[in-house]
Amino acid sequence: MSDLLRLDGGGETLLLQTRTGPPRLAYWGERLPLTLDEAALAILAERAVSHGMLDGGEGLGLFPEAGQGFTGHPAFECHRDDGGFVTQLAPVEATQGVDSATIRLADAAAGVEVVLTVAMDAETGVAAFSSRIGNLGAAPLHLDWVAAAALPATHDEALVFDGRWAREFHTVRQRIATGLVVKENRTGRTSHHSPPFMVLGEPGFGEDHGEVVGLHFAWSGDHRLLVERLRDGRLQVQAGELFWPGEMTLAAGETYETPRLYATRSGGGLNGLSARFHPFVRRRILGDRLTAKPRPVNFNTWEAVYFRHEMEELKALADAAAAVGAERYVLDDGWFKGRPNDTKGLGDWTADPVKYPNGLGPLVDHVRGLGLEFGLWVEPEMANADSDLLRAHPDWILGVAGRDQPLGRGQYVLDLTRPEVSDHIFACISALLSDHAIGYLKWDMNRDLTHPASAGRPASHNQTRAVYALIDRIRAAHPGVEIESCASGGGRADYEILRRTDRIWTSDCNDPIERQQIQRGFSIFFPPEVMGAHVAAAVNHTTGRRTSLDLRALTALFGHFGIEADVRAFSEAELTALRDWIEVYKAHRALIHHGQIVRQTYADPAAVATMVVDETGALASFAQLDTATYASPDPLRLVGLDLDGLYRVRLLNPPRPPSSGMKFAPALTSGEVVEATGRLIETMGLPLPILRAGGIAVFHLERIGQV
Ligand code: DGJ
Repeated sequence: MSDLLRLDGGGETLLLQTRTGPPRLAYWGERLPLTLDEAALAILAERAVSHGMLDGGEGLGLFPEAGQGFTGHPAFECHRDDGGFVTQLAPVEATQGVDSATIRLADAAAGVEVVLTVAMDAETGVAAFSSRIGNLGAAPLHLDWVAAAALPATHDEALVFDGRWAREFHTVRQRIATGLVVKENRTGRTSHHSPPFMVLGEPGFGEDHGEVVGLHFAWSGDHRLLVERLRDGRLQVQAGELFWPGEMTLAAGETYETPRLYATRSGGGLNGLSARFHPFVRRRILGDRLTAKPRPVNFNTWEAVYFRHEMEELKALADAAAAVGAERYVLDDGWFKGRPNDTKGLGDWTADPVKYPNGLGPLVDHVRGLGLEFGLWVEPEMANADSDLLRAHPDWILGVAGRDQPLGRGQYVLDLTRPEVSDHIFACISALLSDHAIGYLKWDMNRDLTHPASAGRPASHNQTRAVYALIDRIRAAHPGVEIESCASGGGRADYEILRRTDRIWTSDCNDPIERQQIQRGFSIFFPPEVMGAHVAAAVNHTTGRRTSLDLRALTALFGHFGIEADVRAFSEAELTALRDWIEVYKAHRALIHHGQIVRQTYADPAAVATMVVDETGALASFAQLDTATYASPDPLRLVGLDLDGLYRVRLLNPPRPPSSGMKFAPALTSGEVVEATGRLIETMGLPLPILRAGGIAVFHLERIGQV
């Protein structure tokens, strides 16, 4: 019988060696022929063992254990109250499915069973790794660390995300020279500063070149992502949930299964990874929920009025939003009982009787009467200390008896692991959805979990699962409702939350200069249609920077477009421009939301360029974020087009007046049209206008044929 399990997908082959020892990844690369020379594979997999190491060397399998003599970070750590902590798992059974493989391991002495699952998406080649631990013993088994898998890495340049509120998805690169690089999240949400994504690639890998592996641990709670240079020079990467001390204990017969670690490989740099992850998200994570529905232009009230909810003003905003082309009106924070600011009211999910004496109905009717969908902001997991809910049920929060916990935005986290709490919140949200024609929920989450305990025990894991269960329950009861995942901006962005939501609020920073960077980072793992992107006021509320309407709108164009400003204060010129850009968005949203993002490389570090392309054509954006380094811009050499495709190219926003900043303005920058092949455009590039800091140029490339 073959020693190998085999998975094929997206032009890739993944081989697992299973039956003769600890399971390990034997091959992961371009697709192999159906007939394999297993003897040759075995010989090629051998590795010399040096003096100073254990006699048998250290196996780096899919699930390395200290008990097998592995001295790196083990994939699995557990202990029992009697002091037992060593495991020596041996394969029991390996099962080959069509697109997945499972390997069952057991250690009778330790009373532990492990089932490793590897699945591979046939279309995209995205693999999913997970592990399930079973307690076969009679005594409790305490789990200290369980990786979804340990994966060997060929290359040592790591790209991870860093960030903070209003500055998410910034990439940081580092070489893994020695020891461990660990990214941990202890905030109880996916986090702004340490979201669970990593790329490992050959040194200097870029958007379009270099062999890379992209990894995403799909979990919206605490996690640890690590990459380690082992003492013999090999590299491993692991991801798993981060348990609080004593959090995960299995009683006899109980099991724990890790969230999935998604991983994919590409020889074509970061764009190559996106070309696999984006269709995977579309088909396997979002499913077909919204494929047929164009994403409506959102209007969100937050930066327009904040907590100042006054019926006539809210209606006037709806009128103004509809007049520029908005298709959905989202009533943000401030609408519910006793909510003059962010210190009170959270948890009391009925309309404020002062702001809404006749309930939400009149506003919903007005908005719907304009032909817009109505959306509503909620933060179901939280309650202010100053709320009727917590006055009635002060014990309904996560916390440790006898311990103070710091407040975040004046609020606590509700203990959704308690059925009566979840039931109550479900009833509140469900009543809102039943009572009103609400088609969209903006589901916010605005504080870290600092004392995530329930009934005296750590409960971060259970709380995360309970949040999923609550959303699932709401979806099941109200299947037509779309949900936006928000956590103080982009603090909850991962594939597991996206499995049950429809888009992500990328950041509370709507400044397009910042957004160009934030959106670029976000776009590595997420497709554009789930990226909430809004046009805000000219002077940005988080940065104080003034930007042009064109830059704001054309930055939002590459995501799920929205408006978040008091548009009544816009000048006539701004309103006209906004209306026009919304028309452009509507005309091209099929391309933007089904096409492939290809981030462009441009020599000037003060500029950011990107493109979205499909079989009908492309939109390409060049944003000059800071003063240009050189006097005259290099042409924009666009990669990612069909080289033999013929494109009709037009600059959508020629500078006004045409020659501004230029003694000579190239014809294309004055709005003239050129027809050229993808090959010419990639090799010669598109002439750019000279742009000041904050300028932007967006080209439409209509595909008109083939040469
Ligand atoms: C944080 C969100 O990110 C904002 O967009 C807004 O909804 C506020 N919360 C409301 O409190």
